[in-house]
Amino acid sequence: MELTQDQKDLLEGKYGQGAQLAMKVQVAIGESFGAKRMVPITRSHVALSNQDADLWLAEKMVGLGAKCRVRPTVNPGFCLSYFKALGTVTDDDYAMMERTDKAYRALGAELSYNCTPYIDTNVPLFGEICAFSESSATPFVNAIWGARSNREGANSALFASITGYVPEYGLLLDENRYGNILVNVEADMTCDADYHILGMCGKKIGHGIPVFTGLPKNISKEALRNLGAELNTSGCYDMYHIPGFTPEAPDVKTAFGGKDPERVVTITNEDMAEVLEEISVDTPRPIDFAMFGCPHFTLNECQYIAKKIDGRKLAVPMWILTGEHVLAMAKRTGIYDQLEPYGAHIVPDTCPDQPCWHFLKGKIGITESPKCAYYPQRRGIHFVIRNLDTCIEAALTGEVK
Ligand code: F3S
Repeated sequence: MELTQDQKDLLEGKYGQGAQLAMKVQVAIGESFGAKRMVPITRSHVALSNQDADLWLAEKMVGLGAKCRVRPTVNPGFCLSYFKALGTVTDDDYAMMERTDKAYRALGAELSYNCTPYIDTNVPLFGEICAFSESSATPFVNAIWGARSNREGANSALFASITGYVPEYGLLLDENRYGNILVNVEADMTCDADYHILGMCGKKIGHGIPVFTGLPKNISKEALRNLGAELNTSGCYDMYHIPGFTPEAPDVKTAFGGKDPERVVTITNEDMAEVLEEISVDTPRPIDFAMFGCPHFTLNECQYIAKKIDGRKLAVPMWILTGEHVLAMAKRTGIYDQLEPYGAHIVPDTCPDQPCWHFLKGKIGITESPKCAYYPQRRGIHFVIRNLDTCIEAALTGEVK
């Protein structure tokens, strides 16, 4: 691979052992993908997970003196103060989150603890080359913003943040950004939660870059967030097109780069119902709690829930996961006061796939997000999956009809 003088200096250790290791790994990744050169990035997002391997690497890099050249935003772990007050975390879990915080702080990361930075805190411009890890983030920055990122892992995104470069391959190149699967959506797309279920149709869509037709003209950012998150729960997608809507697809022909699709798939109401039946706990049944915000909810969604609750006390606790900046705005706008006294808690910095939820083991919750239901299964927590209105109604009554 051709390297610039700065890249050679990184590789030879001029900027320390940490940067040297990061560059070595990145060059190896680039060579394995046939990259000819490394190119600079201007932003990045690291999907830290606050789990053993993640912490091991972060602390190793701190020990080797690494420091981020490009300051990455980071994924949620769990909110130390909220769960300390709740008394639901063990000393070991608490200590691990503290170590994660300390390691990423030392690396120079922006401790945003939010998995939807592409919506409001780390938003790339069209064509900007970046390194985004996190399932909903990579497809969003590529498809919606027209920025360029490969589907980085938390570790490769961290290395890119440290060196300031990524190997140029995959979605960084024009020829790899075209669609190859035509997905005709015949299903009724009536709310943002339907995009969760559409994203869960990965098995039927198959591997490649989908070009979705048949979707409504106006699609909310929350729906697009849901689509990307679930495409990478049911499959592996870093890019898609919606002709007439996403920036690189003014029409179907352009979306396919003038070629014919390799596959044509139709998604019907029956497909969506089948997927939902497969992934949700059966109903009717009582529920123990409600959880939203996987990926993290926006202020709009907090406001929507507050309006629906409309001053009524919830029958079961509700947790709404989001970023600290959304919590701050919810407090400032009075939305928080329309939720908290009624049993709907806005929790910042937190992911459902964290040990802070151990106390829900054996319980059945309700959520609108298949991804929220997917990870906590390994902790013995299961979910009914329904649209947001049904979930809110269930939280008010304590049961799903
Ligand atoms: Fe975000 Fe965690 Fe869900 S990172 S998408 S809240 S699994």
